[in-house]
Amino acid sequence: MENKATIFDFQAEVGLTKQLGGLKATEELIELCHIDKDKYVLDVGCGVGVTPCYLAKRHGCRVVGVDIRDRMIDRSKERANKESIEDRVEFRVADAQDLPFEDDLFDAVICESVLAMVPDKPKAMHEYVRVTKPGGFVGLNESTWIKTPPPVEVVEWVGQDLSGNAQFLSADGWVGLLQGAGLREIVVRTYEIDTRNEAREILRRYGCRGMLGVLGRTLSLYARSPAYRRFVKEEREEGVTPENLDEYFGYGLYVGSK
Ligand SMILES: C[S@@+](CC[C@H](N)C(=O)[O-])C[C@H]1O[C@@H](n2cnc3c(N)ncnc32)[C@H](O)[C@@H]1O
Repeated sequence: MENKATIFDFQAEVGLTKQLGGLKATEELIELCHIDKDKYVLDVGCGVGVTPCYLAKRHGCRVVGVDIRDRMIDRSKERANKESIEDRVEFRVADAQDLPFEDDLFDAVICESVLAMVPDKPKAMHEYVRVTKPGGFVGLNESTWIKTPPPVEVVEWVGQDLSGNAQFLSADGWVGLLQGAGLREIVVRTYEIDTRNEAREILRRYGCRGMLGVLGRTLSLYARSPAYRRFVKEEREEGVTPENLDEYFGYGLYVGSK
């Protein structure tokens, strides 16, 4: 792995990605986007494919997951294979800003903890809306400043893993993006982050066996990748979580209809 690898390249290697708010947030997004077994759903920035597989298995719908990293898509396909749901999920490498789908195709487009990392957010939003059927839904779960302006130490801490590649917005900023893309009847729900709960949700998402696999792949990556060892060292040096993190940083669910 080369020097410029980001946290997402490492996460693809170890097979672990997450959204903020865990399964509760995903279920809420599913409900707000009116997703059920008859729906055709696109998950943009699907990471290692947990939500698409969950949607297909638990809600019985057909799902396409896309991610900009081919290693994430490899992991997603492995997951679908393991869960024997290859007939209902499909995975493709694609950039949120240039989706390889025809207009008006999906009943719902969801995007969990991704858009903050996408450079041209209006372009990506336009793409989400373009591929959604009239009357369908676009739903985001995104990192949100719940109180502004955030202090420098909080901004630095939440962005530390992302090397300045993320831009977090306030709820107004996210709503403006949905409105700018022409979405209507916008629903907004914002939440504080509970860091302990986020850790519990990781265990819930992957289970004990899944976490053992993640641990094994993490140790193997640490042993073979100098870039990963540097990343871990820098993380350690960043220090402790700011005490006032919860006051400023949270996540929001933003849903609109086309
Ligand atoms: C925080 S992870 C969330 C993954 C997944 N949604 C989940 O809940 O596990 C962010 C993901 O967005 C992907 N990503 C970043 N920029 C992207 C882009 N422009 N287009 C598509 N995916 C992107 C990353 O590769 C990574 O898998």
